Amino acid sequence: MHHIRYVGQRLHCESVDLDAVARLHGTPTYVYSAQTITDNYRRLAAGLAGIDLRICYACKANANLAVLRHLANLGAAFDLVSGGELRRVQAAGGSLRHSVFAGVGKTEAEIALALEAGVYGLHVESESELARIDHVAGQLGRRAPIALRVNPDVDARTHAKITTGRSENKFGIPLSRAMAAYATAARLRHLEIRGVQMHLGSQLTSAAPFVEAVEKMAPLVERLKALYGITYFSIGGGLGIAYHDALASGAREWWEARPSDERPLTAEAYGTALRPLLAPLGLQILLEPGRYLTGNAGVLLARVEYLKRGAERNFLILDAAMNDLVRPAMYDAYHELVPLVRDTSRPALTADVVGPVCESGDCFARDRTLQQVSEGEFVAFLSAGAYGAAMASRYNTRPLPAEVLVLGNCFELVKARENFEIMVAGEKIPGFLNA
Ligand code: LLP
Repeated sequence: MHHIRYVGQRLHCESVDLDAVARLHGTPTYVYSAQTITDNYRRLAAGLAGIDLRICYACKANANLAVLRHLANLGAAFDLVSGGELRRVQAAGGSLRHSVFAGVGKTEAEIALALEAGVYGLHVESESELARIDHVAGQLGRRAPIALRVNPDVDARTHAKITTGRSENKFGIPLSRAMAAYATAARLRHLEIRGVQMHLGSQLTSAAPFVEAVEKMAPLVERLKALYGITYFSIGGGLGIAYHDALASGAREWWEARPSDERPLTAEAYGTALRPLLAPLGLQILLEPGRYLTGNAGVLLARVEYLKRGAERNFLILDAAMNDLVRPAMYDAYHELVPLVRDTSRPALTADVVGPVCESGDCFARDRTLQQVSEGEFVAFLSAGAYGAAMASRYNTRPLPAEVLVLGNCFELVKARENFEIMVAGEKIPGFLNA
């Protein structure tokens, strides 16, 4: 459920008319609904009510400072994977003491930054990393709180590029080696064993893989609690959202009308399936959701630049491109596309929806059917609040898109569109090239 819907014929984010936002701030522009993020956060917390729970928002999904502040205000902690994300949370006023620091390639500088900030736990991916963290903690005269990421080897049944919990992935320590790795950690003087972590992959649409993984992990978790007194079990992120039918999925009736085996995973179903497995562990449970909190809260607004009628197909050429929203090009991901002003009297148009970047891969959708739109009109890609702006690049020297946050009838630019000077600010022409 979310707050992106038509009011009359005009697409709104909460009480804000998106066509007005597009005209005021230009396009491509991401717009986020703060109320949707709030609802998602509360729904997830309610789904696991009764468990000692901490929600650590995975910043990688959308690390805009305003989004982070909003989540911090709701009580969220954060899952960080770089020194940059740590500094963003700091800048947004989030609590680092309750946040965790993950990632397969932590540098010494990042480890020191995380320890100095007093993070709740470093999520460790290998034995070599244990040694490195011990070394850095020793230099700083601290003990580093750690949890090992254990790979439960469970098929998340999601896209190959976003599955992580299989043994062939680069992530985590195999379940069979976990006890030995903990024994190594216990011998290192500057480490404090605090927890255990797992993460299966992203965009999971069923609770079954989570259940399978928690069941596989439970004996280990219990032994770690008895042996080392661990206090938390992080079960990672990965809850999926609706991409198809994204607009309709804003309404409760849509969810209720679907047979339960066709319903994307809800927080309620996730909680109901996991609570009986998690409660007996008697540990604090950390969640690391990214997409679930911000995905359906965001849209990407774009302008129709040209409608090109080719020999065999039509092309709808937008001012947004793969550099603004890379998911379709990178993962063949589907994002629903709707006009900002609906006109049901117009005929349908079937076209390939593309951007202006000079690559055939710059294609958002093939053979997409939507209402006939004219040059100069605006459209929105839905479910773009996670891994949208966060993955944007400046390819083709296109500025990073603008971002707007909405709450009720208020909206504000929370990232200005870049200008040329900012894009080239770090570059210089070396003296030896001066003729
Ligand atoms: N925790 C860990 C250890 C992770 O690696 C991830 C995501 C998360 C939590 C958050 O996962 P989420 O709840 O958002 O599914 N760019 C891809 C998704 C990559 C996810 C990477 N790791 C996409 O656009 O689909």
